[in-house]
Amino acid sequence: MKPLSSITEALIQSDIRSITARVKAVDGINLGQGICDMPAPDSIKEGAKKAIDNDKSIYAPFGGIDSLKQRIIDKVQSFNNIPVRSPDNILVTSGSTGAFVTATFGLFDPGDEVILFEPLYGYHSKILELRNIKQETMLLNPPEWDINFDKLESLITAKTKAIVITTPNNPSGKVWSRQELQQLGKLMTKHDLYAITDEVYEYMTYDDHSHISLASLDNMFERTITLSSFSKTFNMTGWRLGYAAGPEHIIEQMGLLSDLFYICAPTPLQHGLADGYPTGDDYYEELLQDYSRKRNLICKTLEKVGFDVPWPEGAYYVFASFEPLRDRPGFSDDQEACSTLIEEAGVGSVTGGSFFTNPDDGKYLLRFCFAKKEHELEEACRRIVDYLG
Ligand SMILES: Cc1ncc(COP(=O)(O)O)c(C=O)c1O
Repeated sequence: MKPLSSITEALIQSDIRSITARVKAVDGINLGQGICDMPAPDSIKEGAKKAIDNDKSIYAPFGGIDSLKQRIIDKVQSFNNIPVRSPDNILVTSGSTGAFVTATFGLFDPGDEVILFEPLYGYHSKILELRNIKQETMLLNPPEWDINFDKLESLITAKTKAIVITTPNNPSGKVWSRQELQQLGKLMTKHDLYAITDEVYEYMTYDDHSHISLASLDNMFERTITLSSFSKTFNMTGWRLGYAAGPEHIIEQMGLLSDLFYICAPTPLQHGLADGYPTGDDYYEELLQDYSRKRNLICKTLEKVGFDVPWPEGAYYVFASFEPLRDRPGFSDDQEACSTLIEEAGVGSVTGGSFFTNPDDGKYLLRFCFAKKEHELEEACRRIVDYLG
């Protein structure tokens, strides 16, 4: 038979999914995959049930239903301080992933260059790879994950069209500061670049860090596509609802692309979300308290057993180094350490190398996700201490 497309040759199951299967096989606790197993808000679930009962079952407008767009406008204006002006600045998508894919089709031709930062969120680079977009990556180092802007500027060529940033970051937990975003903005203006910003963990920032959207800074809205999602904020990763916010002419083209790719995001779920959208501060305060507690627990546990732990500034992952344990049997590199923790402690994590173009850069790192029910996270920590303590 004739072969499948050449694109499929580059597709492999992500490390994260295969780790999930291995953790399941030993009936372990999975702190690998970034899936939050907390319930979605009741108000949203009730809204969706009502929408299904009322047969809100037909295609929605490809840009999203009006009531949800209005919710998003309110949120983007008040929480993100982004100067969106009308529903034409918003596109409801199938998760932020749907928005990222359409953004890449909206902005790039094969041959264009894009700059990303390492450690990377793999989906960004894989999607760009499928689109044949050349990627330049800039390596950031723990524990500060600081950006050398001279180095960044040296990566910009005449073909560079955009910079992709993820803040708060998966896996590093870095939250871009206002000053860093301003410096980035200067380079974008100087070299006429766009930015795609992935802000899906925007409500999870700790200590004195707070989330700032690049598009909220002077003159940045016109060249920034802001992506976010309800997956993480409302524990509804499987509902596939996210959005892009940006200038009308870009959003319009992205909307036409979304229409071609999947027509619209699921209609009854859009209604459910619009109806039950938590608007008071309580929901977000509780979410933050919950994650702050869980962050303390996992960071202290890992420190106790000898990891070097840069405490995350945001998101719900700890990207910790086991280099101090490297002389222990089973900890010679990230692959071995990950296997050891699965087999000996029954706890899943993700190998650091998965987040770098050169896997050696993550040789002594493991990523642990703390978006877990409290009792499961406590049990996972107990197991880690029992095995390594
Ligand atoms: C940085 C980042 N962006 C996007 C996503 C996926 O988001 P969505 O469910 O909105 O497609 C994830 C999920 O882990 C993520 O970590």
